[in-house]
Amino acid sequence: MTTDDLDAMIADAAGRLRRAGHVCCLTGAGISAESGVATFRGAGGLWEGRRVEDVATPGAFTRDPEDVWQFYLWRRRQLVDKKPNAGHDALAEIERVLADFTLITQNVDNLHRLAGSSNVIELHGNVWTDRCTACPRENRSNKAPNASSESILDQIPHCENCGEMMRPGVVWFGEMLPADALAAAQEVSARCDVMLVAGTSAVVQPAASLAYWAQASGAAIIEINPDATPLSPLVDIRLPLPAGQVLPQIAQALSG
Ligand code: OAD
Repeated sequence: MTTDDLDAMIADAAGRLRRAGHVCCLTGAGISAESGVATFRGAGGLWEGRRVEDVATPGAFTRDPEDVWQFYLWRRRQLVDKKPNAGHDALAEIERVLADFTLITQNVDNLHRLAGSSNVIELHGNVWTDRCTACPRENRSNKAPNASSESILDQIPHCENCGEMMRPGVVWFGEMLPADALAAAQEVSARCDVMLVAGTSAVVQPAASLAYWAQASGAAIIEINPDATPLSPLVDIRLPLPAGQVLPQIAQALSG
C-alpha cells in the first residue's frame, strides 16, 4: 500500500465517522500489544505456555482455585506498569470529538479507562476486579501481588459480606458474558452507523458476532489489524497496520 492509498483510506474512514450519527468501536488484545501486553493467540501469546482449560474455565477454579488465582495475579503483575498507547489515546480523543461514541472491549486490562475513555462496555470483565463466588459483591483492587511471594494461598481474597471465596472478575471459557454488558453491546452494535474493529482476531463469540450484527443492521465496518481475520473479506475499509499507527491519524483527521 502506498502512502497515498493509506491517506485516502484514512480520509474515507474519518469522513464516514464524521457523518455517522452513532459510532462504536470493538477492540481486542491487539490494541494493547503496543503497550507490551501479550495477545492471546499467535507466537508469544498468553495461552502459549498454558492450556486455557487449566486456568480460564470454571472447572479449573473448582479444581484448583490457588492455581487460577496465581495465573491472574501473574497477569496483574504483568499489567501493573503498562501504560495506554497511542491507539488507546486516539480512541479516547475520538470519543471526545464525536457526539455519540461507544467503546466495546474484550480486554480486561483497564487500559482504555486509563487512557480517558469513559463510555466503555467491558464484555469480558476487568482483571482488577474481584467477584464473590456466592453473593453479588464486587471489589475493585489496585493491588498487584509481590513478585517474590512464592505462594498466594494466604492472599486469596474472601468476601467481606458473606465470607465465601472471591474469584477474578473476568469471563472464563464456557461462561456467559455479563448479561447487562452483552445487552448494551448488542444494542449499540445494532444502532451504530459505523463500527471500528481494532486489534481482535474476531474468532471468539459472542464478541465477534457484534461486527456481523452491526453490518447486518446497515453499519459500515472499518477494520484495523495488521493481519487478516475472518471478518476482513466483509469489511468496507481494511487498514492493515498497527492500531497505534492508524488510530491517531484517524483522530487527527477528525479533529482537523
Ligand atoms: P487475539 O489474541 O485472538 O487477537 C489479537 C489480534 O490483534 C490479532 O488478530 C492480531 O493480528 C491483532 N494485532 C496484534 N497487534 C496489533 C496492533 N498493534 N494493532 C492492531 N491489531 C493488532 O485477541 P482477541 O481477539 O482480543 O477472552 O481475543 C478475544 C478473546 O479471546 C479475549 O478477550 C480472551 C481470549 O480468549 C477471554 O479471556 C474470555
